[in-house]
Amino acid sequence: MLLNGLKESKKILGKLKKRIKLLKRKKIIPGLAIILVGKNEASKIYVSKKLKEAKALSMNAWLFSFPEKVREKKIIKLIKKLNEDKKVHGIIVQLPLPSHLNKLRILNSIKPEKDVDGFTFSSLGKLMQEKEELVAATPKGCIKLLEAKKVKFQGKHAVIVGHSIIVGKPLAMLLLNRNATVTVCHKFTKNLSNFTRKADLLFVAVGKPKLIKASMVKKNAIIIDIGINKVKGKICGDIDFEKIKNKAKLITPVPGGIGPMTVAMLLENTVIAAEKTIKK
Ligand code: GUN
Repeated sequence: MLLNGLKESKKILGKLKKRIKLLKRKKIIPGLAIILVGKNEASKIYVSKKLKEAKALSMNAWLFSFPEKVREKKIIKLIKKLNEDKKVHGIIVQLPLPSHLNKLRILNSIKPEKDVDGFTFSSLGKLMQEKEELVAATPKGCIKLLEAKKVKFQGKHAVIVGHSIIVGKPLAMLLLNRNATVTVCHKFTKNLSNFTRKADLLFVAVGKPKLIKASMVKKNAIIIDIGINKVKGKICGDIDFEKIKNKAKLITPVPGGIGPMTVAMLLENTVIAAEKTIKK
């Protein structure tokens, strides 16, 4: 059966609309600042989706674009300004960044309360301590989509392919927090199929079209395709979807799977960050 992320994301955005209305009664408009460096085509598309959905929810959203050769100090100076701006509840830096920039130094300069991408050491550390406050949008979207379909994690063998801080590492923590047995594979893993074939839940976030073939998955596995690739002008994931779809119990399509869930989770995190400012 198909796991429709687009449909689920619309439900979530509908609920967010109500929370945003309540915030507006208190004169708070959730505000998201997005920092984009360079001309990465995929990043430009993701950022435009985030801006569009934020505006559709009548949130504030601002884009700060820098040229490829920008100096690190300039970005950190902007982040420090945004950290102090009361209208800004969430700050994200779209990844990847050009290689001359120190990604972690930039990400870690975001105030933890405004870290709606959940990539700072503070947010990642909290996740390890089982405090799920501002959790990275893509892994959070995977879990939310599965929870909406009443999928249970306890005792299941979850296999993740990809160990980035954007997806693989926080996803491993979310699954461990739900008592799954977790295996994390990556580009140095030998005999990948030895692991993927044993997965009850298989998550793939690599960026290689058709990396996962039908022979590499167990019958009735739940398969979450997090890859976004362009092949001959068409968007596809990391899974050989047509050959696997009938073997899987549940499977996400690309597009229309985890992509829209990611955007919804980022906006949810921004609303959470805005709501936290009331309770202070
Ligand atoms: N690049 C790919 N996915 C993401 C994401 O979720 N957040 C940011 N900031 N950059 C990304």
